[in-house]
Amino acid sequence: MSTRPTLVTGATGKLGRLVVERLVALGQPVRVFTRRPDAARTLFGETVQIAAGDFGDRAALDAAVGGIGRLLLLSPISARLVADQTAVADAAVAANAARIVKISGSDWTIEPPGNSISGAAHAAVERHLSGLPTETVSLRPNAWMQVSLANTVRQAIASNQVIAANLDAGIGYIDARDIADVAVHQLLADRVRNRAFNLTGPDVVSFRQIAALLAAALKRPVAALEKPPQAIPADGDFEHRAVAQFVRLIAAGRAATTTDVISTLLGRPPRTVADFILQQVAAETAVPEYQP
Ligand SMILES: NC(=O)c1ccc[n+]([C@@H]2O[C@H](COP(=O)([O-])OP(=O)(O)OC[C@H]3O[C@@H](n4cnc5c(N)ncnc54)[C@H](OP(=O)(O)O)[C@@H]3O)[C@@H](O)[C@H]2O)c1
Repeated sequence: MSTRPTLVTGATGKLGRLVVERLVALGQPVRVFTRRPDAARTLFGETVQIAAGDFGDRAALDAAVGGIGRLLLLSPISARLVADQTAVADAAVAANAARIVKISGSDWTIEPPGNSISGAAHAAVERHLSGLPTETVSLRPNAWMQVSLANTVRQAIASNQVIAANLDAGIGYIDARDIADVAVHQLLADRVRNRAFNLTGPDVVSFRQIAALLAAALKRPVAALEKPPQAIPADGDFEHRAVAQFVRLIAAGRAATTTDVISTLLGRPPRTVADFILQQVAAETAVPEYQP
């Protein structure tokens, strides 16, 4: 076991916190980089070192990478993604970090080029990493169940309907817990191949099928409604334009892919949409216990 900590950026976010929890559970030393040290302390208690700072603050980054062994590189979709991630990666290399594992964009946002501003930003970071004198791995997860599907479950519970731009376009959704498992596997493996992995769930599932799964879980009808995708706002901010492009690409069937990467790397199948929906419905509809 390495005694040098792994630095996790984006640690307080949806995926980063799952990676931190797993590393801590394995007894690995972890340092998290955050603008919100209090939030990190609330989430992780005394189990992690906290390096406070913003990606744009070079001195804070240099302090955060001091003595680290490995880096989990994650930042939100933004016009700053390339600048932020290359700054963290360069700081980590200057600090002699042995390996960088990057959470990249979905493969269908990157290949073929020209369809996604978010995919183009992640691709630029991947190219930068491939020129660095350290081991690097990029994980390209398909759409996460915990992001878009969680909202769909809440929508069905509230209104007995789900709405999508194309009801028959499939999506190879992946459970964020599987992404975190692969990230930890790649951070701790003895050796890694400098490459990008296309991570997906086990099945391609359409919104029509999701409505049927929700109806079974809720034990009542759930309607599936089609609504054309909104125009991509030319003057919108980076994240809104990126998300509008995702909706169009998904509606065109571009996310309808599965790979066997999870099974190959982890030796077990990926989590399914059917199980995720059952778990979410149970969590969202649980009756709070009576507290006298
Ligand atoms: N959702 C999907 O389906 C999907 C699919 C493929 C790839 N991805 C990729 O996943 C990434 C998003 O992951 P996520 O949803 O887990 O993120 P998230 O929940 O939005 O969390 C963002 C994290 O970034 C940190 N952060 C934001 N701005 C920062 C700054 N200026 N300096 C330092 N830290 C900063 C935040 O920390 P503090 O607020 O504590 O500072 C927080 O921990 C994106 O790169 C996206 O492209 C997502």
